[in-house]
Amino acid sequence: MTATKTSPTSIPVAERASRFAYAIRDIVEEARRVEAAGTRVRYLNIGDPVAFGFETPPHMIEAVERAMRDGSNGYEPSAGILPAREAVAAEYTRRGQPMSPDRVFIAAGTSEGIELTLTALVDEGDEVLVPLPVYPLYTAVLCKLGAREKYYRTDSSAGWLPDLDHVRSLIGPRTRVIVVNDPNNPTGAVYPDAIRRELLEIADRAGCVLVADEVYIDVSYDGPVAPVGSLDLDSPVISLSSLSKAYLAPGWRTGWIAVGGGERLRNVATAINKLGEARLCSTGPMQHGLIAALNGDRTHQETFRAALRERAEVTAGRINAIPGMSCVTPRAAFYAMPHVTLPPGKTDVDYVVGLLRATGVLCVHGSGFGLPAADGFLRIVFLASPGELHAIYDLIADFTKDYLRG
Ligand SMILES: Cc1ncc(COP(=O)(O)O)c(C=O)c1O
Repeated sequence: MTATKTSPTSIPVAERASRFAYAIRDIVEEARRVEAAGTRVRYLNIGDPVAFGFETPPHMIEAVERAMRDGSNGYEPSAGILPAREAVAAEYTRRGQPMSPDRVFIAAGTSEGIELTLTALVDEGDEVLVPLPVYPLYTAVLCKLGAREKYYRTDSSAGWLPDLDHVRSLIGPRTRVIVVNDPNNPTGAVYPDAIRRELLEIADRAGCVLVADEVYIDVSYDGPVAPVGSLDLDSPVISLSSLSKAYLAPGWRTGWIAVGGGERLRNVATAINKLGEARLCSTGPMQHGLIAALNGDRTHQETFRAALRERAEVTAGRINAIPGMSCVTPRAAFYAMPHVTLPPGKTDVDYVVGLLRATGVLCVHGSGFGLPAADGFLRIVFLASPGELHAIYDLIADFTKDYLRG
């Protein structure tokens, strides 16, 4: 008997998938169309230093190669190989936050760290305070978990520092986590210690966890920033970071979760470990690269920071000279969040798509980071060379002049 063929109706996807958004990559679809129509696209949407010619330190690459040749190609312990966990623990300890290797988990980048940590902490209906603008993976993961984000303001007129009264006002019975991303993507802000201490205190008093996204602590132009957990060793802090930015290896997908907070977070560490076991392990050879990164030469970071400072100054200088635009000078990382005074009825998406179609310059609209679309913010990745950046800002200046004339 032959099976009767049914008509090809499309298979429905889970509702959570249709609610799921990640603007930094979503915008690329439009860029591909622009490219297909013959315009050169300059991809300033994603913070990948390697794509702009910054090179992974050779001693890290050698360590990975050696590990592969020496046979480190099997599954590894779920929490990571011990020398990698020891290297991460030693790094925090050196920076003033004593950490034991059994509170460290090696993960597939900060991204998996975010996912495992929030999954371990947050139930459906729980609330998580996130900065506005926010790195959109946080809201994407919360969407999957059925939890709710509550945005606390960071204010461009105050150098994008968090509004602490607003943070306090958002704490409620279901608040489980306060996410702090310092130094910050997308704004390039670095928080003063006084603010960081207050954030710790707010989390402590509210009985929730401060999840510290510290992936940029080594790319603050004035030099490395101490992990926030070092400011109060008893505070309930979980720190996340990776090799992606300061060690110039984003494609390795290698990072870590460091659970501070003493006895109070012991159960959370256990839960993260349990969740991590189900995905077996993170990439083995790259963990040897991590050991080489944390124990080896870091002079590349000085060069990288100097290159970024120069690019940040070019960016803010050029954007602030464009009528109708303004930009807070970033103090870390490789992102700027300029503002454009939009004509009435226009949105940040109109502006960003218009800029892309007219010039091939691809930025990300501020609403992709949770800001209201009418506010007129956009994020620029400024990893290109200063010469290239000048050419890009010429294009942005010409486009904006026409756009604002209507
Ligand atoms: C604030 C922030 N957190 C996490 C990530 C993800 O980094 P990773 O490559 O370590 O997963 C990024 C990447 O841009 C980021 O900017």
